[in-house]
Amino acid sequence: MKIREVQEEILRLKKEKDVCILAHAYQNQEILEIADHVGDSYGLSVRAAEDPHRNIIMCGVRFMAETCKVLSPEKHVWLPEPSAGCPMAEQLDPELLEALKEKYPGYAVVAYINTTAELKTACDVCVTSSSAVKICRALEADKILFIPDQNLGRYVAGQIPEKTFAFYTGGCPRHFAVQDGDVERARAAHPQALFLVHPECRPSVVAQADYVGSTTGIMSYAESSDAEEFIIGTENSIVEHLQFRCPEKRFYPVSVNLSCMNMRVTTLMDVYHCLQDRGGEEIILPSQVMTGARRCIDRMIALGG
Ligand code: 13P
Ligand code: SF4
Repeated sequence: MKIREVQEEILRLKKEKDVCILAHAYQNQEILEIADHVGDSYGLSVRAAEDPHRNIIMCGVRFMAETCKVLSPEKHVWLPEPSAGCPMAEQLDPELLEALKEKYPGYAVVAYINTTAELKTACDVCVTSSSAVKICRALEADKILFIPDQNLGRYVAGQIPEKTFAFYTGGCPRHFAVQDGDVERARAAHPQALFLVHPECRPSVVAQADYVGSTTGIMSYAESSDAEEFIIGTENSIVEHLQFRCPEKRFYPVSVNLSCMNMRVTTLMDVYHCLQDRGGEEIILPSQVMTGARRCIDRMIALGG
């Protein structure tokens, strides 16, 4: 089959089976083209909570599908490629978190949404890269234990100097891979380009940015900017997506190392097979995990909206 034929079959099947396809912005271009909604982690969570379809296929990584299930317990939620995980989400388990809480008594635990649903049950509130500053500022607590992404945590702490932050030493291995030298090389090669960066990158890289934001924030900024060239400091799929959206502008990756294998592993054929009941994994979570994680995610939506 050709890509276009598979896409047409997917569009037919999803209508017939009352399926909504959600796709994180890091997914492949051919998947974005058949999605009902494309967004960053925050936008997808809000959409999952509001969507009227009976079934959801979440094209992204496992914690995103878990978040969909927690927000839509009555729906069937599928992850089309079960091996799509997020290394950052697996860096902390409940025992490690308990030890951290003992080290920082009285701190509110703020969890990046890139955590397992089980871990969320032991946290006070979730945040995403687009909502973290707003939510940490709105929290009553003035002492915050930010887990697991130390880079995002330090970025947020820099925006809210009146609060005290503690961090876990986790982070996204892909965004961590970007070095100061990558930025210097990209700037030298493209002196007119603006540098747009995700706060999962290390602080010395973020400090060099013209704009810092989530995947959706980066895309919106580039689309509405008068500038014509951009160096992209997040997963390299965004370079390609922006090039499709703005063919008259130019987009360059800050580093070839900024490619997430876990986001790349889901293919258009996986989505097709999932719709045919020949692949994918339905997300099933224990009821206490659903309830505990829901409290944490609902609070994020209430404070971040
Ligand atoms: P956002 O979608 O919030 O920008 O997060 C990026 C990311 O790394 C998701 O895994
Ligand atoms: Fe996880 Fe990083 Fe991949 Fe996002 S880009 S899914 S944070 S490993």
